[in-house]
Amino acid sequence: MSENIAKTKQGGLAGIIAGESKICTCGLGNGLNYYGYDIKDLAANCEFEEVAYLLNRGELPNERELIDFRRVIKAQRGLSKELKDLIRAVPKSANPMNLMQLVVSALGALEPEKDNFSNQNEKIARLLGVLPSALCYWYHWVSYGEEIAFNTDYESIAGYFLSNLRQKEPKEDYIKALNCSLILYAEHEFNASTFTARVCASTRSDIFSAVAAAIGSLRGPLHGGANEAAMHLIESFDSVEDAIIGVNNMLERKELLMGFGHRVYGVGGDPRNAIIKEWSRKLGGDTDLFKVSEAIEMVMKDKKPNLPPNADFYSASCYHFMGIPTDLFTPIFVLSRVSGWTAHIKEQRANNKLIRPNSLYIGPEPREFVPMGERK
Ligand code: COA
Repeated sequence: MSENIAKTKQGGLAGIIAGESKICTCGLGNGLNYYGYDIKDLAANCEFEEVAYLLNRGELPNERELIDFRRVIKAQRGLSKELKDLIRAVPKSANPMNLMQLVVSALGALEPEKDNFSNQNEKIARLLGVLPSALCYWYHWVSYGEEIAFNTDYESIAGYFLSNLRQKEPKEDYIKALNCSLILYAEHEFNASTFTARVCASTRSDIFSAVAAAIGSLRGPLHGGANEAAMHLIESFDSVEDAIIGVNNMLERKELLMGFGHRVYGVGGDPRNAIIKEWSRKLGGDTDLFKVSEAIEMVMKDKKPNLPPNADFYSASCYHFMGIPTDLFTPIFVLSRVSGWTAHIKEQRANNKLIRPNSLYIGPEPREFVPMGERK
């Protein structure tokens, strides 16, 4: 108990084990594993849908199972008239993360999960299938006043999303890079948004409420929103020299550099960084923007070696080189992490106990009630 209180005083539940999970190890000496598989192997060899299957079923699919899983997701891509009407009501000025949250909440209202959760797998396929459609539909509506036709036929979520976003055939490398980043973003143990999802699921709420709650947590720049914030940081510098001076100044002013540091990984760093950095280099290694990114990394390595880049730093430039607008970076994170959230929701439900911790009370001692007329 006293050790628990000491850790609580560090703040943010740092170092506190808040529950059991079979899904992922993060920073436990063997880097990042999903159900025991090293993230490097998954990122190098898998399609994102294989990883989503692994997270939600506990085993990698065989060829037949993958074909079936993709077919089921593909069949769930459609937007109903009600969903389209709701999406078109969201203005261009809105944060697209609120759009994602709205769509998920609307699914809960329009296509509810059964109270006994017996159709949870169908709802997971629906989320994986429809969220890319919703994001592309909204983006085209607010950007060009057009309703897109969704006439592409890609099996993969990466190909389907990019082809509908750009309304043209994406380069093969772009699909591969996005596929890789979806795998890297899919799952990360008890991070803030996943923990939010589990807390919500522990009340026996429905899957859409738990995912909508998680999206709210992912939006913040200390969590998923860091990829967009990292892009703004990189773009704020015109040259390598400018970046070196600017980052030094920011550190002197004790400002946060978005895309650096992590609650769990120490000096060893985030194992996802090297993988996504290679994709960023492949897509835009000869650009000034990539050189500026490396200059920022170099200054941080020199001045703050305990704060290596996390997965968000080079995801930002990687997405940028694919031509993805910056304000869609965090919603893309949703398209991926929904696989991890739903895996945790299922795990929580399978052995549920209401998550309801205590606080360490630091408020006033019990005192006399003061009637309204006597208050100062
Ligand atoms: N840039 C500059 N300084 C940073 C930093 C960063 N990215 N991350 C942490 N620090 C500093 C803090 O200011 C703090 O300094 P202090 O001891 O002088 O007050 C110290 O390092 C410890 O940081 P703290 O915020 O207590 O660590 P945390 O575990 O609570 O935070 C993050 C983890 C991820 C929230 C934090 O590193 C951060 O804000 N990073 C930027 C946002 C980001 O990239 N988020 C995505 C995470 S995957």
